[in-house]
Amino acid sequence: TKGGYPHFMLKEIHEQPKGIQETILRRLDADGLVRFDDIRLSKEDLAEIDKIYIVACGTAYHAGLVGKKAIEKMARIKVDVEIASEFRYDNPFIDSKTLVIIVSQSGETLDTLAALREAKRKGARTLAITNVMGSSIAREAEHVIYTWAGPEIAVASTKAYTTQIACLFMLALDMGYKRGVLDLAAYREILEKLKGIPEKIKAVLKNDLQVQKIAGKIKDAAHGFYIGRGMDYSIAVEGSLKMKEISYVHTEAFPSGELKHGTIALIEDGTPVIALATQQSLFEKSISNMKEVKARGAYVIGVTLEGNELIEEVADDVLYIPKVDDMFAGLVGVVYLQLLAYHVSVMKGLDVDKPRNLAKSVTVE
Ligand code: M6R
Repeated sequence: TKGGYPHFMLKEIHEQPKGIQETILRRLDADGLVRFDDIRLSKEDLAEIDKIYIVACGTAYHAGLVGKKAIEKMARIKVDVEIASEFRYDNPFIDSKTLVIIVSQSGETLDTLAALREAKRKGARTLAITNVMGSSIAREAEHVIYTWAGPEIAVASTKAYTTQIACLFMLALDMGYKRGVLDLAAYREILEKLKGIPEKIKAVLKNDLQVQKIAGKIKDAAHGFYIGRGMDYSIAVEGSLKMKEISYVHTEAFPSGELKHGTIALIEDGTPVIALATQQSLFEKSISNMKEVKARGAYVIGVTLEGNELIEEVADDVLYIPKVDDMFAGLVGVVYLQLLAYHVSVMKGLDVDKPRNLAKSVTVE
């Protein structure tokens, strides 16, 4: 049931703090360290791995983009994120030193399953991150990490996505520690911060009314853009997909610095631009990109951290997230993007949970 919510999607958006918390706690041992004993990726195994592919479709692919940033930063292993339907035909560079991480909420997406089979055939080690026990992908992958999101009913994925990201963060931490990139103190500090994310997401959820008001201002737009740098770009693509699939507004996401290489020509008076500026280390650069679109008439909706009020000089509306490290800011900020797409869809009278032309699980190639 919808548990008192008007739609499954809204219910699932609100279930994210709990889902992320469960996903983390179920993998901690008595010493409070991440425990992946059942996935035989010991220190020795990890020392041998020299390349990682993350392979998935749609929103799970977007979680992979965040995972790449986390693993490369914390464990210093090269990661390529690939769309499953492309990967399977690309003759990927795989040998026994390659780890292929398959991400799939349902565990049944046909292209993703085929990519897993191809990876195994070529001799890669395989690890699945999935939400469904006993699913085909869970059964066929060498190792599995489950997301504890609970059943996801709405076609638009929300809680599966954020719990996938939580898993990828834990994996990055574990790998970083076992490979000696992180010492125990750094590892514990990052883990504590990750455990604090559900509380920060709750603060974002409380600000729903403001998101509704902003949705009212952009709901009639024919098109729009999402921009961000670094981790913010990885989140922007997901925000844009949510808007497209449930609100039928054509939006695209761009790395902020790339817009002026062509796409900025599409900005007109009133074009909504959702500008993510959650990365403190890139804040000034993000502000100057916002100025560029503002000067061409864009209606700018900024997402940033509390304390960055300077953004109000360039943004028409600002959604604030609690102070949080760059690494985890996207995971908190993306909840605003889910809510925004949700409210636009509701205001347009669309079928939020079952958007046209889409199925929850794509079992055709
Ligand atoms: O079940 P999966 O995670 O393998 O599904 C992958 C995509 O089909 C899925 O994420 C899709 O993009 C969602 N509708 C996005 O909200």
